[in-house]
Amino acid sequence: DYALRLAEFEARIARGEKIEPGDWMPEEYRRQLVRMISQHAHSEVVGMLPEGAWITRAPSLKRKMILIAKVQDEAGHGQYLYHAAETLGISREEMLEALLSGRAKYSSIFNYPTLTWADIGTIGWLVDGAAIKNQTMLAQCSYGPYSRAMVRICAEETFHHKQGKEMVIAYAKGTPKQRQMAQDAINRWWWPALMMLGPHDADSPNSEVLIRWGVKTKSNDTVRQEFINEHAPEILATGLSLPDPELHQDPQGNWRHGPINWEEFWSVVGGNGPMNKERLEARRRAHTEGAWVREALEAYAAKKSPIPMA
Ligand code: 3HC
Repeated sequence: DYALRLAEFEARIARGEKIEPGDWMPEEYRRQLVRMISQHAHSEVVGMLPEGAWITRAPSLKRKMILIAKVQDEAGHGQYLYHAAETLGISREEMLEALLSGRAKYSSIFNYPTLTWADIGTIGWLVDGAAIKNQTMLAQCSYGPYSRAMVRICAEETFHHKQGKEMVIAYAKGTPKQRQMAQDAINRWWWPALMMLGPHDADSPNSEVLIRWGVKTKSNDTVRQEFINEHAPEILATGLSLPDPELHQDPQGNWRHGPINWEEFWSVVGGNGPMNKERLEARRRAHTEGAWVREALEAYAAKKSPIPMA
């Protein structure tokens, strides 16, 4: 019977049908989606921290308002994705406990420091640029709630990407100090942005099943190549350089990069990046300081509904 159900499930995916929460699905499909979507949600929420640090120090009211809107969007993306994961049977409390205990992963990219204001533009251009490549791919995902969340999120990411690009181009054309600040930020964020898209296909244990069941429609390396092919020429066109002496365009038009420092990647993923400790401490502090809000909501709900809370 399991073989029959699995065959029908895979036929549905082959037909391009969306799997919805109430549908039959292999346990491994559910487990993979809970892993991916919850870690994606954690990434959005932790991702608010590096940028949030600059809201009070934005150089103009315009830049401050754009940054506030962007950070607010990331919070919304996190909520969207936690809800998508909840459709698979995991609770918000379980996901939060996994993050705050340090067990769950979140994107490596958010464990790097934002040292100057130019980092904010560079994150918009490079990090959101990489996120758009990845999330456009995930918008085709076979799991309905995730695919639909991606469609909504990609629309907002495009604004994040454009504002970052506009900012960096302005500094690249600005005073020597502004150019140097932008160049320094590009130098620090280029390689972490490449790593953010995941290990090489040969070192990506989850990819095989995710591609088989239509969760990923492209491999990590394919998405990474799309990212580089768009961003390398555009950054070079501003007159800024990229911190990869081996970067060049091959006869097929693909930009070939030098070796990626996967030792750094795994060290950051393993919790030993420049800002991992601070990021988790900030999330734990927010959770503790926010306890009164949860208690107030529960007290209010108990008062409203005659049946006592379980
Ligand atoms: N950071 C942290 N861990 C990573 C990682 C990264 N950048 N890339 C891979 N890993 C982890 C995986 O989670 C996996 O560990 P696990 O099995 O314990 O979860 C392990 O490394 C092996 O990697 P795989 O390639 O086998 O893992 P995946 O097949 O899941 O591919 C991925 C990795 C491409 C990141 C995929 O998980 C994915 O597409 N996730 C959804 C998108 C996402 O999470 N984006 C994060 C950024 S959010 C963002 O950009 C917000 C925007 O607003 C800026």
